Amino acid sequence: MNEHIGQVFTPPKWAEWLINKWNIFDAWLDGAHICDPTAGQGAFPLAMLHIARQKGVRITSERLSRLTLIEIVPSHIERFSENVKREFGVDFPASQIFCQDVITEAHKKEYDILVGNPPWANFGDLPTAYKARLKPFFLQEELVPDRQKTLLGSSRTDIAALVLKVVLGRLLKRNGVGYFYLPTSLFFGDGAHSGFRNYRTKGTLNGVNAYRDFAVDTVYEFTSTKVFERVGTSYCCAKFQVDKPQEFPISYFRELDGEWIEYKALPFKNPTDPWRVVQNLDDLNTNTMIDIRLTSEQKPRQGVNTCGANSIFIFDHKPSYLPEQFLYPLVTKEMWRQNTLLPHKWILLPYHPQTGKPLTWDEIEQWKTLKVYLQNAQEVLKSRKGTFLRTAINKGSWWVLLGVGSYAFAPFKVIWQAYGKSDFTPIVLSNIDGQMWQGNQAMHAFIPCWTETDAQRIKTLLENPEIPTLLRQLNGAGKCNWAQPGKIKKILAFSGS
Ligand SMILES: C[S@@+](CC[C@H](N)C(=O)[O-])C[C@H]1O[C@@H](n2cnc3c(N)ncnc32)[C@H](O)[C@@H]1O
Repeated sequence: MNEHIGQVFTPPKWAEWLINKWNIFDAWLDGAHICDPTAGQGAFPLAMLHIARQKGVRITSERLSRLTLIEIVPSHIERFSENVKREFGVDFPASQIFCQDVITEAHKKEYDILVGNPPWANFGDLPTAYKARLKPFFLQEELVPDRQKTLLGSSRTDIAALVLKVVLGRLLKRNGVGYFYLPTSLFFGDGAHSGFRNYRTKGTLNGVNAYRDFAVDTVYEFTSTKVFERVGTSYCCAKFQVDKPQEFPISYFRELDGEWIEYKALPFKNPTDPWRVVQNLDDLNTNTMIDIRLTSEQKPRQGVNTCGANSIFIFDHKPSYLPEQFLYPLVTKEMWRQNTLLPHKWILLPYHPQTGKPLTWDEIEQWKTLKVYLQNAQEVLKSRKGTFLRTAINKGSWWVLLGVGSYAFAPFKVIWQAYGKSDFTPIVLSNIDGQMWQGNQAMHAFIPCWTETDAQRIKTLLENPEIPTLLRQLNGAGKCNWAQPGKIKKILAFSGS
């Protein structure tokens, strides 16, 4: 069942690199017990054996007895044993190989050093039955604040966060250390990952239940080197120590033109906040709060989300066969690149602009072409995934989209590019022939406004050059969460009126 959970194997060169970076090989020779808790095909133990051979160090049975692999997929460890036999002519001791689920099954031994690359996958993408098995562990590790949130909100939590907390808490001896390749979202992700950043795990020590602190010691973020091919997420490697409270700032290295440049990382405001990365601590003098007066209806939002049905709702040319009042101009990157306000795309929103509510089927039936169009797309629209959307579909409204409410039809929007950018350029948009401009999913974020004066006021305040500085410090430049609503909300001090 778990054949494919987060399998991104570490290339041999990079397993060796991490081992050398932190002198793990020398620690092994000095007697340390080392374990890869999600070992895959054993890239790390194999790298240890390769380094031994390069250095002319004998692979004794005593040394092998201090290397352990835990892995859930039997064929991976079989491959490892075969490789060791073929390349080194030795039988890797079966007693050092554990084919088990490191999260749900107990493991009796404790180690001095953990090394590896935990599975990279979103909780939401795991098989349903396995998700149910893991839920209590997510709760136990405080990765979700309550049971309700586990069901709905935490699908973006990376399973790496859970594996890491579990193995740091249960598999290390007192003051043990761990070295891992990881997605950087653990340190910079909003909401879903703040539970990881309480720097505490509910583990065991000497077989006895114990809350254990863990501290991130050093991080190396890869910004240009491709350690893992075909991986879109941003990643790093990090050193952890258990039984030590987290202290800030943390030494944070980033690649620049083939060199590692040292920065300092520390939480944005509260201890569990995403980190802010600065070159020197004087940069922290930037004001972290930019005051903007907004009403409760004006919280920053993402654009409209078709939940995988773009081909049905979004058009390159305004379709003359659908009623005009349900077609809205869709914001595209050309508006920033070419400074043009000519629509390049259109989106169908079968909604009431006054209330932001979807049309009922009776109402849709009054527009014959709209009814036929939606009916033809019915099957695709009904099979869309997503908890919130499913609720609407189950109630019968299978033509709904996410991110549509009265705010989507506000007469003005202060809107900016929120995804993968490194500049922050809000613009004010209104309508084309009375149809309000709409943002496109996570690409755009906006603040709805009900007067032009208010929109201009907010745009001017958002042009504060400290905002892109802070967004860069929050490690968003070029990444998917560059200026998403959650981040902007952290930076802006909203005073309601
Ligand atoms: C990202 S791969 C890394 C493998 C290896 N450490 C490496 O660096 O090449 C993660 C591995 O964890 C395994 N895995 C996933 N969930 C697991 C679990 N609950 N317990 C043990 N292993 C697991 C996967 O099968 C996969 O082989």
